[in-house]
Amino acid sequence: MEGFQVKGGEKLKGQVRLQGAKNAVLPILAAALLPEEGETVIRDCPEIRDADAMTGILGKLGCVCSRRGAELRLNNRGLRHWEMPDELSKQIRSSIFLLGPILGRMRRATVTYPGGCEIGLRPIDLHLKGLRALGVRILEEGGVIHCEGGGMRSGPVYFDYPSVGATENVMMAAALLPGLTTIHNAAREPEIEDLQGFINAMGGCVRGAGTQVIEVEGVKKLRGVSYAPIPDRIVGGTLLCAAAVTGGEIILANACPRHMIPVSEKLKEMGCRILQETDRLILKAPDRLKAFSQLQTQPHPGFPTDMQAQMLAASCLAEGTSVIVENVFENRLSHVADLCRMGADIRVSGRTAVVRGVKALTGARVTARDLRGGAALVIAALAAQGESVVGHIALVDRGYAHLEDALNALGACVRRVKTDTIDPSE
Ligand code: UD1
Repeated sequence: MEGFQVKGGEKLKGQVRLQGAKNAVLPILAAALLPEEGETVIRDCPEIRDADAMTGILGKLGCVCSRRGAELRLNNRGLRHWEMPDELSKQIRSSIFLLGPILGRMRRATVTYPGGCEIGLRPIDLHLKGLRALGVRILEEGGVIHCEGGGMRSGPVYFDYPSVGATENVMMAAALLPGLTTIHNAAREPEIEDLQGFINAMGGCVRGAGTQVIEVEGVKKLRGVSYAPIPDRIVGGTLLCAAAVTGGEIILANACPRHMIPVSEKLKEMGCRILQETDRLILKAPDRLKAFSQLQTQPHPGFPTDMQAQMLAASCLAEGTSVIVENVFENRLSHVADLCRMGADIRVSGRTAVVRGVKALTGARVTARDLRGGAALVIAALAAQGESVVGHIALVDRGYAHLEDALNALGACVRRVKTDTIDPSE
């Protein structure tokens, strides 16, 4: 297994360019199954493990995928399978998005119950409810979901909760369905707007993304296009937290500051100075951060759950007491135990963490338990005194493309190592 060996205490300084967004590119790759003709080119496709797993699934379905650096080419002419491969689907939760486009194209689909990070139950009832509302018949047996779409029709879909994935699934299932599908209480995340942009670039007709009501007018055909996903606001936020907690000063290039408002406003509350330009964001941290009174994760435009762990790590060294409430996922505080091993003072009760800022953290051997929690441990290690090893970094590679390179370019000292062979005296 691989880990990051981190020498703490370096202030992050310099400029870094953000990668394309994981949470945008995964549904976009799923939607790339929709066009019958033409090649789709995804520019700025991040080199992350989840994107590889997704292209692996697309390949098994008959779509030809080839990557050259950040450019991914997809051709669907050979698409003929509607059953998603078991092993790969279990690896990423995003495999559930494929139900919508496969049903849209082939009117049937089979998927194994999806995998992903261990951050809670993560049911898929809303996805299935949305597809049923479009006339899909669904049979669940032994962890396998069979969907039969012979009777699919457009119409209204109402979500009890604005689920990101379920909204995207229905948008894709409806893109080729004759008539008007209206999604009520839709998720409003920027990645939903990006999926709308991609479907429309292929010749589709979707409007309203970014609001609670999305309308999809089915078109007869879509064609392949060249498209680049939005910059990754979560990677951006992670780097900002790393700079903030080390007292650094960084510039994020290829950023969309509008998408990062919930995070940049919290960092301002902690005493950081932030300057927003059209596609750049500049952060200058104080010598010591201040605690924030409360942070509650919520669907967009509330504070993103995907930034909770990193912000919690930053608050460990802030002066005063910060309170964090995780409302979106029920089991997303597993990084707390390892942060405490590094000297943090955190009390957890249910979904609430109370963080009393300490003056210093100490390097330790810790282990990533999920994607964002792993990133949080890296942030703490960057600020800690001495050396840390963050194990099971494969989980971090799911969403961060070569995180060590970005951090080292900013002056950090991070090395990818084999965790079983590491020499602690090095
Ligand atoms: C997406 C993001 C993920 C982010 C999350 C919330 C991708 C690949 N993943 O995940 O990084 O953390 O949005 O912004 O884009 N729920 C149900 N039933 C369902 C679906 C969801 O109860 O059928 C619940 C979940 O358990 C969770 C909440 O709804 O409590 C939010 O989930 P959802 O918005 O669907 O997140 P994901 O699409 O899984």
